[in-house]
Amino acid sequence: MTAQFSSHAAVLIEELLPRTLLQNDDGPLEVACSGGPDSTALAVLAAATNRSVTLHHVDHGLRPSSSEDAVLVKELADFLGVHFVGHIVDVGEGPNLEARARHARRSVLPNGAATGHTMDDQAETVLLNLLRGTGTEGLGAMKPGAHHPLLDLRRRDTHELCGVLGLRVVVDESNDDQRLLRNAVRARLLPLFEELSHRDPVPLLARTATLARGDAELLSGLAKLVLPDPHDVVALREAPQPLSTRVIRDWVISTNLDDEREHPPSEAEVARILEVVSGDVQATEISGGRRVARTSGRLRIDAEASGTLEGVNTDAKQTIAPSWAAHDLGDVVVSAQQIRTRVSELGAQITADYGDNPPLLVGVLKGAMHFMSDLAQAIELPVDVDFMAVSSYGSATQSSGVVRIVKDLDADLSGRHVLVVEDIIDSGLTLNYLRKYLQARGPASLEVCALLLKDGEQRIEPDFRYVGFTIPPTFVVGYGLDVAEKYRNLDSIYTYVGTDSY
Ligand code: IMP
Ligand code: MG
Repeated sequence: MTAQFSSHAAVLIEELLPRTLLQNDDGPLEVACSGGPDSTALAVLAAATNRSVTLHHVDHGLRPSSSEDAVLVKELADFLGVHFVGHIVDVGEGPNLEARARHARRSVLPNGAATGHTMDDQAETVLLNLLRGTGTEGLGAMKPGAHHPLLDLRRRDTHELCGVLGLRVVVDESNDDQRLLRNAVRARLLPLFEELSHRDPVPLLARTATLARGDAELLSGLAKLVLPDPHDVVALREAPQPLSTRVIRDWVISTNLDDEREHPPSEAEVARILEVVSGDVQATEISGGRRVARTSGRLRIDAEASGTLEGVNTDAKQTIAPSWAAHDLGDVVVSAQQIRTRVSELGAQITADYGDNPPLLVGVLKGAMHFMSDLAQAIELPVDVDFMAVSSYGSATQSSGVVRIVKDLDADLSGRHVLVVEDIIDSGLTLNYLRKYLQARGPASLEVCALLLKDGEQRIEPDFRYVGFTIPPTFVVGYGLDVAEKYRNLDSIYTYVGTDSY
């Protein structure tokens, strides 16, 4: 440390440092520093250890002053004689701003970088989790350690340290916005507790967190002894629900990427996995583009890009819906990257299968628009392409199987090897009709290549030569698929959670 501190500051640092976990280790110390008072104090205390310290600032480009904040943190690093790294991420305005900003921040910060959360933040987290209906785990809130080394300090300590040192800190105006629940809890709920009980609620709530975390860790240890194999469907089904829930939860967390370790599956995800356990469904999507499925009495999390939708989706951009559509979109079902990989596999297979007899590709408009284009480019044969447009009669939600030809083919099919390129097969009735219609024109062969097949929904004998992905039977949009003509231009496929009827 090169900075020279006044004796008052030196005394304060000497008092605070032993209350942190910064000296539990002596390796390099990565610090996430926004320039606010808590993370500025964290930087000062980090610099007072013997460790090699780097301050990381993330500029989200969201506030006009955000690049000035980076300058302030750089000056702090210079003052303290530690390293500085500035990261710039592009978040953009739109819905789910906080979640998207957090995601973007995590993708650039080193794993487990220290943050300046204090005991006051811990107390707020306990209350926020309570307001979400949390169980033991959520009451445990943040876990003290290298990632959260300041949980035994109070916010007034960090502010005092900055004040004594006369450090300029970033003021985040959004901290005053009481529409954000955390801010309202801070400004109104905690003071109300104090007023009613005549006690400072922060250490009490922090104690609750410590006790709950201890219990949660104990329970998870015991759960492992009682039910050691989280893949065993029978054991899970026979276990009391709190036990199976905990085993599933701990299993999913253990397969998370390191930087997501603190983010357990949601209640709803665990409930959906329990439906797979009970046999109500065969498989379910979970966050991160993953899928939990069941075969021969064993549960598994698929984690490899291929036609069965395996693959931990680490492509940060792909897991975030574009802001102009985010309000209508749920999880990514198939990412753009997964589509690219699979389409080139299909192209290679078709190339090998047809060889000397290049097929006539018949695209079904409009849903197959992107798929037809990408697939045709992935086939290394002189293919012909043609299109037809159909519209099915019947209610909006259910295909009746009676199809009106809106645009017919230009090509003559007789003697040709025809490959129908479809977006999605749901009941299969549309395709069934189409197949009969085309067969009547005397092609030499007639096969189907569908990008998506909805699991278990077909009311016809499934007989499709090429299928991109089998997906759960939910309504999806993107990559050509629409709801009321919208969202065909998304590059990934998402579940649709909006209210337009389809
Ligand atoms: P089927 O006759 O039930 O197989 O319906 C097939 C047609 O319904 C597809 O070509 C799509 O146009 C439409 N479709 C079925 N499921 C979806 C979906 O999840 N999203 C968008 N369109 C769908
Ligand atoms: Mg369609």
